[in-house]
Amino acid sequence: MVNQLKEYLRDPFLRRLYTEIRNAGPLKSIAVDITHVCNIRCAGCYFFGEGMDQHHSPEDEAAFDAFIMREKARGTNFVTIVGGEPSLVLPRLKKIHDNFWMNVATNGLRKIPYEGFEKMPIGVAVWGNHETDKRLRGGGKRDIFAQALHNYRDDPRAFWYYTATPGNAHEIETVVAQCVDNGNCVLFNFYCDLLGLGGDLDYRRGFAEVRREINRMIERYPNKILMTSYFSKVVSTGRLYDEHWGYEVCTSISSDNEVNRERIKNGKPYNPHFRAYNADFSSTRRCCTGVDRDCASCFDTWEHFSWVMLNMKKHLGSQQEFINWLTTMYLFYMTNRIVDFDAGRKLLPEMHRRVGDIS
Ligand SMILES: C[S@@+](CC[C@H](N)C(=O)[O-])C[C@H]1O[C@@H](n2cnc3c(N)ncnc32)[C@H](O)[C@@H]1O
Repeated sequence: MVNQLKEYLRDPFLRRLYTEIRNAGPLKSIAVDITHVCNIRCAGCYFFGEGMDQHHSPEDEAAFDAFIMREKARGTNFVTIVGGEPSLVLPRLKKIHDNFWMNVATNGLRKIPYEGFEKMPIGVAVWGNHETDKRLRGGGKRDIFAQALHNYRDDPRAFWYYTATPGNAHEIETVVAQCVDNGNCVLFNFYCDLLGLGGDLDYRRGFAEVRREINRMIERYPNKILMTSYFSKVVSTGRLYDEHWGYEVCTSISSDNEVNRERIKNGKPYNPHFRAYNADFSSTRRCCTGVDRDCASCFDTWEHFSWVMLNMKKHLGSQQEFINWLTTMYLFYMTNRIVDFDAGRKLLPEMHRRVGDIS
């Protein structure tokens, strides 16, 4: 294994990517619902679907500060902030920004100000074109996508976290064009039809058309798409070599939570530091996006990042496989500004070229 790695790293481009991520050191990550409150209700949102909003965030600021101190003492260095809507609790968001590498997911309706949040990686949600997004996130009335475009125009911190729905692949081209024209990069996520709405939202029809469109977007905007063809295929098919995505292989499980005791013993890799904290800042749940839902419906890009990243060994069979792993890893580090984002942007076209179109 060591020899194979040495061989692959003779390539200066790969050596550069690998050295940067290794120099950053190991990630000790957690996910936190920074508030239980949200200003919209998206159709099929896992947060409300799984009752996560029942864990209320304490008003007492000391409780939040104590949480930060506990996590720092535990060695946490990376925090994914979700919720609820993080832009509703800016002072707490800033405290996370000031203490950890981090990433925040927002619905984009309220702008996270620049001052005090200068280097914050912000994943702005969109679920389709204006019509689809309005239907799924805006209660049929509000054009949240339009507001978010306005809020994050030419904002270097923002990237679009585009949750694609399986039957609406034809929208991808125009949505991505608007995001790119807005001066932002794009990372894809895949819709989990938790309400069983079916039709164009039904994951059981597969994401093949969506993948084809993502590959076209990579070809058209190689310096703007923060996901490779390989990684898009892993997330949207749930296949990683001989493994099929599900609870038994997911690596982003709360290791302290009793509910995961048997899973931890099954020999599959998992992130031993990871915890998905509820908005009370003390209790944890099974995983980032689930309490007891069926993992077959989960196409969450964040959790799949971790799945690939922790399965380096599987990817050492050939240089191409190593490239597939390394570029996934690097894109996570770059998107979250653990390595230099602007320098990484310049390497993006070469990363895509090396991975190629994996249909
Ligand atoms: C629960 S939200 C919380 C953060 C913030 N309110 C937002 O809208 O981004 C976190 C992320 O989960 C995504 N999400 C929620 N429900 C989903 C679902 N059923 N399928 C795919 N992604 C979903 C959202 O789009 C968002 O990117």
